[in-house]
Amino acid sequence: MRDTILVTGGAGFIGSNFILSWMETAGSEVINLDLLTYAGNPANLSSLDRDPRYLLVRGDICDADLVGSLLRKHQPRGIVHFAAESHVDRSIASPGAFIRTNVQGTFVLLDQVKGYWSELNAADQAAFRFLHVSTDEVYGSLGAHDPAFSETTAYSPNSPYAASKAASDHLARAYHHTWGLPVLTTNCSNNYGPFQFPEKLIPLVILNALEGKPLPVYGDGKNVRDWLFVEDHCAAIRAVLQRGRVGETYNIGGNSERTNIEVVNLICDLVDEMRPPRSSGARRNLITFVKDRPGHDRRYAIDASKLTRELGWQPAEQFEGGLRKTVRWYLDHSSWVESVQTGAYLEWITQNYTERLAI
Ligand code: NAD
Ligand code: TYD
Repeated sequence: MRDTILVTGGAGFIGSNFILSWMETAGSEVINLDLLTYAGNPANLSSLDRDPRYLLVRGDICDADLVGSLLRKHQPRGIVHFAAESHVDRSIASPGAFIRTNVQGTFVLLDQVKGYWSELNAADQAAFRFLHVSTDEVYGSLGAHDPAFSETTAYSPNSPYAASKAASDHLARAYHHTWGLPVLTTNCSNNYGPFQFPEKLIPLVILNALEGKPLPVYGDGKNVRDWLFVEDHCAAIRAVLQRGRVGETYNIGGNSERTNIEVVNLICDLVDEMRPPRSSGARRNLITFVKDRPGHDRRYAIDASKLTRELGWQPAEQFEGGLRKTVRWYLDHSSWVESVQTGAYLEWITQNYTERLAI
């Protein structure tokens, strides 16, 4: 077994940030298995193009032969499993892809890893880790005064995305319980930061605000999310991979509950400050309330005290500071923005917003 880790979905938003920070901290070899769907962008990792410690393999986690041969060839000591379909609105429009990648893909990966792991010697088996990256959305929706989700909150997924992630969490748990595979699961709240595909709320609003387009807010704008800067998520994953107790799940969150309208207002003010508006006036004037998402979860909040208590992790970034860095990043990376605002992106914007904005 080598010091290598196999990352799935490493060309996506969180995976790219994770690989970049892994190279700066742990520094060992990374194999990135990514299908490069609309959400995967190898340019996120172009700074590693000549780094001998990094290899991108374009492929599908549902391809058992490919996964099995990669494991035997590269002999990783751990897996960090990000690959997924990740956008709730797309899961409502076309749930099939979510079942395929999130459920079937996680099953194939777990099963191939079990086969590889069972062939290792006892010391390597004990050192091996499979970290399954999941979401707080598996717990469902909270009322305004409910306590935050803890690791013992019952699963109650509401969207096809959340249901597919819940199914994958159960499979990961079953592979540990039945065969002793050294699985760890993390359930994290909403992330934001560099490289996020602009179909999600924060980058969508930053780019629309810059371009003077309507800022679509679903429903009454009072849905609450618990926002975490992506680098803090990456630090938590490293802590769990290196020091987490096998078989456990760890919630990860930012202690930063905000309503959507608060988030959108803050983005407007930051964009106004960094790119003062010309004739069109303050960006807040662009806010447009639109038709709600069906089954829209009202509130998410994470109790991450287990992770703090056991592994000493805490978020380093406050929401306002992290959002400022994020707006600055999108302003400074206009060529990255142009490169992702192409076919699949434009199709999605038409599909999701034409009818909503007409109301
Ligand atoms: P993303 O959509 O930005 O990236 C997903 C990546 O997976 C892409 O690079 C894509 O090409 C790849 N992929 C998709 N299907 C694949 C397949 N069949 N085989 C191989 N690769 C495939 O997602 P993200 O926001 O970076 O999320 C990463 C993980 O973190 C997901 O598992 C998600 O459920 C979880 N998560 C995300 C958030 C969030 O706020 N974004 C919060 C908590 C948990
Ligand atoms: P999103 O970024 O899609 O993440 P998630 O649905 O996984 O929480 O959405 C965050 C919140 O913002 C969610 O309550 C839905 C809302 N939202 C809008 O109001 N307008 C939009 O255009 C989008 C994409 C999301």
